[in-house]
Amino acid sequence: MVKINLEACKGFIRQEALQAYQQKALAAFDTLMAGNGEGNDFLGWKTLPDETPESLVSACEKVRDDWKAKGVELVVVIGIGGSYLGAKCAIEALSHAFVRPQGVPQVVFAGNGLSEDYLSELLDLAKMRSTAVVVISKSGTTTEPAVAFRIFKDFLEKTYGKAEAAQRIVAVTDKSRGALKTLADREGYATFVVPDDVGGRFSVLTPVGLVPIAVAGFDIRAMLRGAAAQKKALLEKSVSNPAIQYAAMRNLLHSEGGKAVEILVTYEPKLTYLAEWWKQLYGESEGKDGKGIYPASVADTADLHSMGQFIQEGSRIMFETVVSVEKSHRTLTIGTDPDNLDQLNFLAGQTVGHCNAMATLGTRLAHIDGGVPQLSLSIEKIDEENLGAIFYFFEFACGISAYVLGVNPFNQPGVEAYKKNMFALLNKPGYEEKTAEILKRIQQ
Ligand code: PA5
Repeated sequence: MVKINLEACKGFIRQEALQAYQQKALAAFDTLMAGNGEGNDFLGWKTLPDETPESLVSACEKVRDDWKAKGVELVVVIGIGGSYLGAKCAIEALSHAFVRPQGVPQVVFAGNGLSEDYLSELLDLAKMRSTAVVVISKSGTTTEPAVAFRIFKDFLEKTYGKAEAAQRIVAVTDKSRGALKTLADREGYATFVVPDDVGGRFSVLTPVGLVPIAVAGFDIRAMLRGAAAQKKALLEKSVSNPAIQYAAMRNLLHSEGGKAVEILVTYEPKLTYLAEWWKQLYGESEGKDGKGIYPASVADTADLHSMGQFIQEGSRIMFETVVSVEKSHRTLTIGTDPDNLDQLNFLAGQTVGHCNAMATLGTRLAHIDGGVPQLSLSIEKIDEENLGAIFYFFEFACGISAYVLGVNPFNQPGVEAYKKNMFALLNKPGYEEKTAEILKRIQQ
């Protein structure tokens, strides 16, 4: 479960202003709960934690078991944006940083860019391993994953034959529309549905996240359980509801405090992709109509040695939201060295975790002194339940926060602009007029 502490913001805000923003957040909470705000045809994510049927969970686990029985060693998960970041975040957070357990496939990602070298090198790996593919696209028409899938489908069919390749491909897509759905039906791939009323960045608890996370060997039931417990904790209409507190404070710091940037700060390398997932969630949900807080991130303590200078003394445009983990899974104690040439004996007997906690505290205090308000979120440990909880917390708080800001949290009209230009430049049929316009523009 996610805990919040906003004490360190107090010196930066006026109490009456906070109360006003709390009222706005309470009203936004009502809108979200009643489902009568903008984008209300995309609220399916709200009930996923406790309404995901057992049959769906077992179907995700069956993919894991079937591929295990086949001896699959490498699973390429193809998707981009909301069809990528949730699974990537969970798998990075839950995996051993260096060693994979016996019998569990390596899960890698593709289709989240158009790098020729990346795809070529991934094919090199696939040639050395027994490989399967999960292709994820709600629309079924997104170019980056479609290109990667065409390449990997061809690879699988040439390597294993068409019939066996079809057993090694799972598609996660719309229930009836899109090129991927047509292809999956024709080729007989196992298919999972992305619900109509769940947008990409809110889809980690649908098969978009659940299939890859299960295949990577993690407990999706515990993840849904954690999300369900967090959901229950967020249902109360109260200023002590952590989602309401977070939404109110970030909007207050933005609108009245003039802070244009929120930096999500983590002190666990395994949570680096939590920040990437969060950036998409908040960036795409709020950054529109000329509004929004720019979501950024740092991975400390590493980034204290790069971005720390700017955060301490640069333009005062940001506040920080620090995500802490209360307990590490392992304990590592720093030893005594009789020679003490490294002059570290003052740390002898202390754990590395304690040093990390003191680095977190020291940095927070320094950044407060430097004029950077600090919001604090914490989870007990990194496991499936807590990840489910923090996913749900951020999604729910995002809905409230965007309504406070006055935008539709669930659309993303701006992402079409680059696509139109790219299609025109790649001579996609139907874009001839745009192609001519762009060519004229770039020749000038
Ligand atoms: O949040 C979103 O809606 C986007 O990031 C989409 O997830 C992303 O563009 C991929 O779309 P699709 O799943 O249709 O391929």
